[in-house]
Amino acid sequence: MKILVTGAAGFVGSNLSARLLDLGHEVVGLDSVTDYYEVELKRANLDRLANRPGFRFIEGDLNVVDLSELAETTEVVFHQAGQPGVRKSWGKDFSFYLEDNVKATQRLLETFKGSPSLRRLVYASSSSVYGDAERYPTTERDTPQPLSPYGVSKLAAEHLCVLYARNFTVPTVSLRYFTVYGPGQRTDMAFTRFVRAAVRGERISIYGDGTQVRDFTFIDDIVAANIAAGTAESVPPGRVYNVAGGSNTSVREVLDRLAELHGAPLDVEYVDRVAGDVFRTGGDTSLIQSELGWAPEVTLEEGLHRQYEWGKSVFAR
Ligand code: NAD
Ligand code: UGA
Repeated sequence: MKILVTGAAGFVGSNLSARLLDLGHEVVGLDSVTDYYEVELKRANLDRLANRPGFRFIEGDLNVVDLSELAETTEVVFHQAGQPGVRKSWGKDFSFYLEDNVKATQRLLETFKGSPSLRRLVYASSSSVYGDAERYPTTERDTPQPLSPYGVSKLAAEHLCVLYARNFTVPTVSLRYFTVYGPGQRTDMAFTRFVRAAVRGERISIYGDGTQVRDFTFIDDIVAANIAAGTAESVPPGRVYNVAGGSNTSVREVLDRLAELHGAPLDVEYVDRVAGDVFRTGGDTSLIQSELGWAPEVTLEEGLHRQYEWGKSVFAR
């Protein structure tokens, strides 16, 4: 199939692109290579894709590039581009969230509205739309009540995907990812920061008392959910699915496991919690399981081990 992956230089987009190429698809990757975290990591992600048969890269901003030609032939869009990060989304930085999450998604939907070739547009939504949720495990029917401006921007873009499906039958599907981890994870995220500090003998800062719980989800499971959503014979347009790893583990428990992997105690300090950080996430995945046959396969134990090994190879000095 002819596929467009937005955000192809990023953590999820680069892993997804690699898997799609493994499966023999033709992939156009698009990314503006923002400097939210180390650009060298994004360039390295792109270098691994660059020479693979079937891959073409467009460096550009979704708010600027003209994708109308691609909209004539593309069969599946995986829309991973965006400004991530919960805790940075306050104050003047909110403009990035508005531009890269809300406006960029609206422009992409306008471009693909009426596309003769499009079979599916998969949007990378987020568990952050739930905020401190009504109940756990949280289902897609529970009321979204984001706690961070980031969550508001991801929910706004998700609503745009739903309403372009309703009004113009754009075949959108939104996947609400729950904290994605694994080799290549962004450097602003917990596991990469913890592993990097451990292998370098530096101090780990925990926001709050470390009792916050996350439903951590391994990158390969996120990639598999995307492929299931992008290639399923039929999905009701505008559908929204949770994609959660089922780990439901506190940050303190993660530190304990990491110390075991590291074979030495970690240097940990506890600092103030950060506004926007929810206390708990936990997703019910029965809908995606029953409709797309997706279920998480990688346990936290195995996934953390794989991320630790990756971190050692990348961050050890
Ligand atoms: P990432 O930052 O590694 O990747 C996103 C990529 O999008 C970046 O390479 C960035 O340069 C690019 N980008 C940003 N704005 C752009 C624009 N206007 N035009 C073109 N490219 C642009 O982030 P990630 O962790 O891979 O996340 C991918 C998507 O999944 C994001 O939309 C994020 O909100 C969502 N998500 C991630 C997680 C997670 O835990 N990683 C969880 C829930 C949702
Ligand atoms: C992650 C992603 O960063 C978001 O882009 C995404 O939308 C969100 O998951 C989601 O599930 O929707 P978060 O859960 O905050 O957000 O992921 P981490 O950065 O891995 O943080 C996990 C927990 O560790 C948080 O409670 C955070 O406060 C804590 N943490 C993080 C620390 O205590 N110290 C750190 O150095 C980093």
